[in-house]
Amino acid sequence: MSTSMRVVELVRFGAADAAFVTRELPRPTPGPGQVLVRVLATSVNPLDLQTRRGDYRDQVALPAVIGNDVSGVVVETGPGAGDFQPGDEVWYLAPVFAGQGTYAEFHVVDQALVDHKPARLSHVEAAGLALVGVTAWEALVERAGVRAGERVLVHGGAGGVGSAAVQVAGALGAEVLTTARERDHEFVTGLGADVAIDFSAGDYVPQVRELGGVDVVLDTVGGDTLARSPEVLADRGRVVSIVDTPEPQNMLAAWGVNATYHFLFVSPGRAKLQALGRLVDQGRLRPVIGAVLPLADIAQAHTLLEGGSAGEGRGRPRGKIAVAVHPLDEPPHRTTP
Ligand SMILES: NC(=O)c1ccc[n+]([C@@H]2O[C@H](COP(=O)([O-])OP(=O)(O)OC[C@H]3O[C@@H](n4cnc5c(N)ncnc54)[C@H](OP(=O)(O)O)[C@@H]3O)[C@@H](O)[C@H]2O)c1
Repeated sequence: MSTSMRVVELVRFGAADAAFVTRELPRPTPGPGQVLVRVLATSVNPLDLQTRRGDYRDQVALPAVIGNDVSGVVVETGPGAGDFQPGDEVWYLAPVFAGQGTYAEFHVVDQALVDHKPARLSHVEAAGLALVGVTAWEALVERAGVRAGERVLVHGGAGGVGSAAVQVAGALGAEVLTTARERDHEFVTGLGADVAIDFSAGDYVPQVRELGGVDVVLDTVGGDTLARSPEVLADRGRVVSIVDTPEPQNMLAAWGVNATYHFLFVSPGRAKLQALGRLVDQGRLRPVIGAVLPLADIAQAHTLLEGGSAGEGRGRPRGKIAVAVHPLDEPPHRTTP
């Protein structure tokens, strides 16, 4: 068995076309409590673009293998890693800014962060769901504590996190309002949104207020959207913000509605994957894959994600941009029934 592996390294911060180099590196060995996974698919997220551009240069020393989504197969288990056997199909969110990333043929991870892949998902679909799904779950369930019958506003419902969050909020029994361009309204209502508001055609605030406001805002945009959240919140409403913003925010209005704010940087974990897997099994959550590229074309995957707004004929495809790493022994993407 070969002891090396192919990885794509980030060697230069900046434009995608000069940022990556394919290299052979020694294959990692699983330590205590860890498993070695053959990565079949990963995906690109805005975090990858931000890292490549140098936004996190304090945390990422070059050269670096980046990427955080994995769907693949366990090939070796370390001492004490008895939860999995070689051959198990698994998916997970790899720790952010810790250890080797997932633009690689193999990846070592603590078994506590790993779950069995939902059988209904292809590897490409699972890789496209891990980071965004875990983020949506952590935001809506662990932070906001969304309850059945509550009203939730998900910003950017046609995006990666938003499309997962619309479905998760609906599965929790919430009434879901979401902001999306008009051309995406059919798409987001197809995901279960009760109300779609075009953020590009006017101010969403009066529209949400007219509908009676919301108990929870999931802010996937930041800036003004974060600052204005109290204007649409019911008393004792909750806001979960996932986008850090360097501009000072005026939070004065938050006192007026006794708001609770949660600032979230997603963390990996098996329990969240299991919860998402149950929703997948029940047919209440399906990942949306817009494109699948091979690992060798990672720069193109970045360019595609960066290419402006998502949606038909508008720069980038709607849905996640997944990356096939090993040749997959299945159709790269199948539609979830
Ligand atoms: N803190 C965390 O742990 C965490 C985790 C995951 C993601 N994030 C961050 O969350 C953000 C979203 O991630 P993503 O993967 O969902 O990105 P994405 O797939 O690019 O989706 C962003 C969505 O927001 C929409 N949008 C743009 N401007 C908007 C506005 N003013 N109001 C409402 N919607 C708007 C976009 O619509 P168009 O495409 O039509 O423009 C798109 O559908 C990124 O900044 C990412 O870095 C943070």
